[in-house]
Amino acid sequence: MCISHISVLLVVFSSSCLLIDGLSSDQAHIIFIVVDDLGWNDVGYHNLYIKTPTIDRLANNGVKLNNYYAANLCVPSRNMLMSGRHVHGVIMGYPRGLPLNETTIANKLKEAGYSTHLVGKWNCGFYSKEFLPHNRGFDTFFGFVDSKEDHYTHMVHDISDLRRNDLCVADKYYGNYSTIMYGNEGTTIIDNHDTNKPLFLFMSFSAVHEPLQVPSVYEKEYIPTIDDTDRRIYAGMVSCVDEAIANIIETLENKDMLKNSIIVFTSDNGGDPLYSGNNWPLRGWKASNWEGGVRALGFVYSEILPTNARGTDNNELMHITDWFPTLVDISGGNIHTEELLYGVSQWGVIRGLAKSPREDVLIALDTTRKAVSKYRTGIYGTNDFDITTLAALKMGKWKLLTGQNDGDNRWFQPPEINPPVKSIIDTDFDRKRMVRLYNLDEDPTETTDLSLEREDIVLEMLARLTRYASSTVPAQLQTVPRVDRKTMTDCLGPWIDIVELTQL
Ligand SMILES: *[C@@H]1O[C@H](CO)[C@@H](O)[C@H](O)[C@H]1NC(C)=O
Ligand SMILES: *[C@@H]1O[C@H](CO)[C@@H](O)[C@H](O)[C@H]1NC(C)=O
Repeated sequence: MCISHISVLLVVFSSSCLLIDGLSSDQAHIIFIVVDDLGWNDVGYHNLYIKTPTIDRLANNGVKLNNYYAANLCVPSRNMLMSGRHVHGVIMGYPRGLPLNETTIANKLKEAGYSTHLVGKWNCGFYSKEFLPHNRGFDTFFGFVDSKEDHYTHMVHDISDLRRNDLCVADKYYGNYSTIMYGNEGTTIIDNHDTNKPLFLFMSFSAVHEPLQVPSVYEKEYIPTIDDTDRRIYAGMVSCVDEAIANIIETLENKDMLKNSIIVFTSDNGGDPLYSGNNWPLRGWKASNWEGGVRALGFVYSEILPTNARGTDNNELMHITDWFPTLVDISGGNIHTEELLYGVSQWGVIRGLAKSPREDVLIALDTTRKAVSKYRTGIYGTNDFDITTLAALKMGKWKLLTGQNDGDNRWFQPPEINPPVKSIIDTDFDRKRMVRLYNLDEDPTETTDLSLEREDIVLEMLARLTRYASSTVPAQLQTVPRVDRKTMTDCLGPWIDIVELTQL
């Protein structure tokens, strides 16, 4: 079914008031769920040891996105998710954020008539109040601005980080476990939602990012099956997220909203084995451009999807920036021509009606990061792309890595199947090699570098990187005076007046 936007003005009389509304009542509700640092091997539908009955049920009856990529860290992934634009490099550190001239997906959905709510992690900047989510298209914000938090105290680096819009509410929720608290906020928003309007609920869990913490009841579930204590806590954190999602689905059902809802589930980057995340059998992990760092978990569940699309594995190429135009499509809104998005709408693909409009996905390109190579510098063949540049590109079945793109390149077996934790080292690995090529259809775990055998493919992909390097600009990083935490009396939050800043 195609969701069309009815642009006629509807005048609706209700018993107590007159609503003037330009909305189409068949705009689908969108529940967008992000789980932080969740590894490829950390959901039940990939790993029988992990108990996620709700996630499995939704995934198995929805559309699994099996060829779907994100960045290798949360900050670029979340900025790309919010803006639909390719964010190069890493916008790390406090005095930075998604530039204010960028339109967010919440701005677009609000424009299309949605009620918009962010629950949980923001991570797109907060040095001045203009950067906070409720000033960037979200009607309400309940969550934290930094990239992680203590799941009980809601503190990060000794300062509280939990707010309801402008208000610091860390004291009020001190001791409430994050996943349960955010889940409760999500169900409250659904309960209070006026169903005459479409809902955009962005559930951005702080789990399963470290610190490893979970109420013991969730960890105990795993005592019979997982010996490793940290892995057990981690698995419990995943199960707690699953329960929060179950509550959200049940609340949607009780409100009779589920039949007109689209549930999107995504990770933001690979799992971190230092904190018990696992990407087995994929290579590498968070912060590397190997598959374990960038191949994201994702699925869409909806009763709106055509019957023959439900319960399918979708192998079409997709990127995290694609959600922006896809959600705009779902909302019946428009992408304006001045918006130079990297994302493309995958709504036809998700419904099983189209092939991916993508030939390739630029996974990473950071022209400011060059490796020092004694073997080769600069040019490869006739190409003018500098191969010491950190980059990763997927084109069809091929994946090209350039520069010192090794990150942690081991394969980690999960402790539950082969105790103790076992990492497999690539004994042939040559750090000085600046170009690597893998055929992911035949070799999804990136064991065999084919760059010498298939120089033709390497050259074609380097030519594409050249075009990307010249046609896209690195994220505009505004450097402003650093935060002085001592001046913050309650919560981590804005410390600069943007008006003063523009006069600097
Ligand atoms: C925002 O401004 C920056 C810096 O001027 C520019 O590079 C970027 O393209 C702008 N973004 C949009 C969406 O216009
Ligand atoms: C926070 O914890 C208190 C005490 O257990 C509980 O009554 C309250 O419902 C919790 N709030 C949320 C939003 O989970």
